[in-house]
Amino acid sequence: MNYSALIQNRKSVREFTDKKVPAAVLAEIEAYYQKSCKRLVPELKTELCIFGDDAKEALEGAAGYNQFLIGAPQYLVLLSEKGELAEENAGYIMEDLVLKLTDMDLGSCWLTFTDSAKVKEALNIASELEVAAIAAFGYGVKAKKRLRINILSMSNVDISAKRHYFDPKRSVEDMVFMDTWGNYEPVSEYIGFFDDMLWEAFYAASLAPSYLNRQAYGFVIHDSRITLVRRPDAYTTEIDGKLSLGIVLLHFTSVASEWAGKIQWRFGQDAGVLQLPEGYEAVASCVL
Ligand SMILES: Cc1cc2nc3c(=O)[nH]c(=O)nc-3n(C[C@H](O)[C@H](O)[C@H](O)COP(=O)(O)O)c2cc1C
Repeated sequence: MNYSALIQNRKSVREFTDKKVPAAVLAEIEAYYQKSCKRLVPELKTELCIFGDDAKEALEGAAGYNQFLIGAPQYLVLLSEKGELAEENAGYIMEDLVLKLTDMDLGSCWLTFTDSAKVKEALNIASELEVAAIAAFGYGVKAKKRLRINILSMSNVDISAKRHYFDPKRSVEDMVFMDTWGNYEPVSEYIGFFDDMLWEAFYAASLAPSYLNRQAYGFVIHDSRITLVRRPDAYTTEIDGKLSLGIVLLHFTSVASEWAGKIQWRFGQDAGVLQLPEGYEAVASCVL
C-alpha cells in the first residue's frame, strides 16, 4: 500500500450509501487482517469481528460521541487480550485496517466506546478478549455536503451537514520540536537533512485521526532519537488517548519505514529522559 497517499486521502466518513459490501470484499479485509496487517505488539492476542448494519441498533447507546452512533452498513470490532500497550496496539492495528479500507475505496469512521462489557453484550460477543477498537465502514456518499463534526465542547458535539472540508489539523511546525517541547526553530534544518522524507513521515503523523480531533501528542527530536510525547488533554479519555497514540505511531512508522526500514520503538521509561512541561509524558522513542 502507498501509505503516504492513503493517509492524505483518508478522512472520517459519516454518511454511507445503502450498497452492501460484497462478501469477497469482506473476505479480503479478513485476509489482510490475518496475513498483512501491521501490529505494534505482535505477542498480544487479538481478533477481528465484522458486523452488518443490524449492529447499529445493538450498538446504539454503547458507542459513538454522546452516544450518537454513525449508521453504516458494516462495523469492525477489534478484540484484544488485556496487557501492557493493548490499547496502543489496537489503535495501530485498526488504523492499518482503516487505511486498507481507504485503499479499497471504502469510507470509515472510528467510534468511541467506554465499556467493553456493554459492547460485548450488545453484539453477543462470547470471546474472553476485550473490545479494544470499533470503526464503522461502507461505501461513502459522494456529495459536496458531508456530515462533519463540530466540536463545541465535550458535551456538545454537533453532527450536521456542512459543505465538506477536512477537520483542521495541527501543522508539522506545531507538533515537532527540537530538544525541548515548544522549540521549533532548528527542526526544519534537521528534517531538511533527510531530504524531506522525514518531513513526510511527520506530515503523515499530523494527519492522523484522533479522538475529538484533539491531537493530544507531539514529537521531540533529541540526541538522534525521535520521541512521541503525550500532551495532557482534559477532553481525551484514557482509552481514546491511548488508541490515538497507536494511530499516530502507525501513521509515522508506516511512512518512515518505507525509507528507514524496520523501526523499533522503545516504550515507557526507555522512551528517554526529556525536560517536558508538567503533565506531558514521553510515550515511545526510536532511532531512524
Ligand atoms: C479513538 C477515536 C474515537 C473516535 N470516535 C468517534 C465517534 O464516536 N464518532 C465520530 O463521529 N467520530 C469519531 N472519531 C473520529 C474523529 O472525530 C476524527 O478522526 C477527527 O475529527 C479528525 O477528522 P478526520 O478523521 O476526518 O481526519 C474518533 C476518532 C478516534 C481516533
